[in-house]
Amino acid sequence: MSWFRFWRRKNGGVATATRPGAPDALDDRRRLQDAPYVLPSDDKEINRLDFQHYMLRYTLRGNFAAPIQQPMSILDVGSGTGRWAFEMARLFPNSNVIGADIVAPNPDAMPADDGTRPDNYAFIQGNILEGLPFADGAFDYTHMRLLLFAIPEARWPDVTRELVRVTRPGGWIEMVETGPQRNGGPAMDQIVSWITQASLKRGVNPLLGPRIGEFLHGAGAVNVSARDIALPVGAYGGRVGRLAETDVFGVLQGVKGLVASQNLATPEQYDSAVLAARADLNNYQCALPFYIAYGQRPG
Ligand SMILES: C[S@@+](CC[C@H](N)C(=O)[O-])C[C@H]1O[C@@H](n2cnc3c(N)ncnc32)[C@H](O)[C@@H]1O
Repeated sequence: MSWFRFWRRKNGGVATATRPGAPDALDDRRRLQDAPYVLPSDDKEINRLDFQHYMLRYTLRGNFAAPIQQPMSILDVGSGTGRWAFEMARLFPNSNVIGADIVAPNPDAMPADDGTRPDNYAFIQGNILEGLPFADGAFDYTHMRLLLFAIPEARWPDVTRELVRVTRPGGWIEMVETGPQRNGGPAMDQIVSWITQASLKRGVNPLLGPRIGEFLHGAGAVNVSARDIALPVGAYGGRVGRLAETDVFGVLQGVKGLVASQNLATPEQYDSAVLAARADLNNYQCALPFYIAYGQRPG
């Protein structure tokens, strides 16, 4: 099947290539220079995203919640390493699956899976903040997961409208987001506050996860369903708790340089808060929320 039917002919708008900048002197992590995205964009983050993908698939019991049947065209916005999209392409071998991200994944840094990308998968560079380069109604199912640190607060309504626009009438749109750790104790609360302040300085509000169902409603989706779960973080939560702990502390390491560069904390203050937060996980029974919402384009 031709991929060309997906493209938006009007502007052909494939985003210009975005490259992470040089490693930050404060934490040796690379970040995007020309986007508000808060998290790093480097090989360490690729590993974390893959790890997180497997954790989410395990804890959410699968890769999607919307009642999709046999979608023929699937779009993953902010596709990251492409892991989710690869798996969907294999699960629905008759579909065409597109992963769109502001950064093209570095093939050399991709951990081996079965060695090949499915033939029914394609990547396209795209910046959701500039509008997606796809025709109206091009996809049966549109998915966006964990773009909370990428989308400025004021842009959520039009980003969600864009997801609905590229989905066919009757097709499904699904979003999965997270939010700050809860019940982490004073050190974790301090880190969450630093990260929130650092993000807000870039226009990004990391507290909007609970509102994704509302954004779908506001963008005109119908049959919207929203739910959330909280994963235990720390050994008290058994296997899931240990997975979530690794993921959470991967994120905390990833934003240290940003927090320090904004003089919210010195790297030493940040490191000692991270140590204290880790020691407190089980005492306070820290939890990490995830929000899942899906809805249908009317028609
Ligand atoms: C936290 S990762 C999530 C990746 C993937 N959705 C997942 O669940 O594993 C966020 C992704 O959004 C991408 N991103 C950041 N800003 C973006 C933008 N403006 N448009 C498209 N993608 C963006 C990043 O490059 C990164 O791959």
